Amino acid sequence: MKQVIIELGEKSYPVYIGKGIHSKIADVLKEHRISNQIVIITDRNVAKHHLSKFKKQLKTVGNVVNTIVIPAGEKQKSWQRLQAVLAEIVRLKLSRNAVIVALGGGVVGDLAGFAAATFRRGIAFVQVPTTLLSQLDSSVGGKVGVNFLENKNIIGAFHQPKFVLSDVEFLKTLPKREIICGIGEMLKYGILGGEDTFKFLNSNLNEINKLNLEVVEETIFHCVNIKAKMVSEDEKELFKTGGRVPLNIGHAVGHALEALSNYRLHHGEAVLLGLRVETDIANEMGILKEKDYGLITDYLYRIKFQPDLSYIKLKNIIDYLAAGKGGAKTRFVLPKKIGSVEVTSEVSLSIIQRLLRKKFSSNNRQIP
Ligand SMILES: NC(=O)c1ccc[n+]([C@@H]2O[C@H](COP(=O)([O-])OP(=O)(O)OC[C@H]3O[C@@H](n4cnc5c(N)ncnc54)[C@H](O)[C@@H]3O)[C@@H](O)[C@H]2O)c1
Repeated sequence: MKQVIIELGEKSYPVYIGKGIHSKIADVLKEHRISNQIVIITDRNVAKHHLSKFKKQLKTVGNVVNTIVIPAGEKQKSWQRLQAVLAEIVRLKLSRNAVIVALGGGVVGDLAGFAAATFRRGIAFVQVPTTLLSQLDSSVGGKVGVNFLENKNIIGAFHQPKFVLSDVEFLKTLPKREIICGIGEMLKYGILGGEDTFKFLNSNLNEINKLNLEVVEETIFHCVNIKAKMVSEDEKELFKTGGRVPLNIGHAVGHALEALSNYRLHHGEAVLLGLRVETDIANEMGILKEKDYGLITDYLYRIKFQPDLSYIKLKNIIDYLAAGKGGAKTRFVLPKKIGSVEVTSEVSLSIIQRLLRKKFSSNNRQIP
């Protein structure tokens, strides 16, 4: 089992990564002196494959285990679903010592974490991520929340888990589409992590795609180490350019596509497309030089993903980006070279329009 520590003073916590390690959950909870009042929050797909076995593990040390099972999908990361989950939690009459265990992908992690952050002004929670995306990214760093009024993640909190337990065995039941999503979010670490990480991820892309669990475990370890450093430096994303801000690379355009597709595009898919567009924007603006532009685009297009996006109007993407998030100007994190980014809100909409028009209409390396 591998371990990465997220250094945050009193709030520091470990991320355990390994194969078959969910069978140790009861011991890990005991080690962390976590109360015996447990609520597992999960979704229907994860419940179908993994809940009963997981619940049995938790009960082995006499824990009182309740479960809340929500429908699956991004639309559940909503104010309404949060309210319903909190209503169930209140009905369970939990004390302040209770713990919420998020068993699922990023949707469950973000929603359950936010419920934990708000119930009785904050109770403990634990992340047991079950998707590639959540294991290598979303379960770490304490960002929790819901989408609201067409805005991704606009309502939320920073609430760090007590620990994260990533068992790559869970990934065996993951649909192929969700592996691509994980790879979408993973690709950003190749750009952010520097040359060694880029080489590692680039050369192992096929094995990750085939779900070679040894390679996947190593990949998660790589990505979590990169994220750990950024989160430790800048827990609440207060930095203007450094800290955890670079983690948003590809996300300005990605979030626009995700929201405008009405979540037909999954998050990781939207990020993958966002990375492709933003890499072009960086090159067009002269920020990203040709050599690294070539390396990064080859890497981003090694994953074959060309969905039909004809149902999204180009004008709506531009309007979405022009409107910004919560009134603030849209901030772009653009690749400068492998291992470094430039953060700017000064991207001309005409550049984006031109690039998107070209991508939407060309047959070669098009977004759709
Ligand atoms: N908090 C953060 O720092 C952070 C970072 C990145 C992304 N996110 C968020 O994460 C979300 C995306 O997460 P995701 O990609 O994990 O999506 P998800 O949680 O919707 O899971 C994807 C699908 O896989 C199913 N599933 C999950 N585990 C499974 C398993 N082991 N076997 C079979 N099916 C399984 C789910 O039911 C769902 O249908 C987005 O809302 C995004 O905004 C958060």
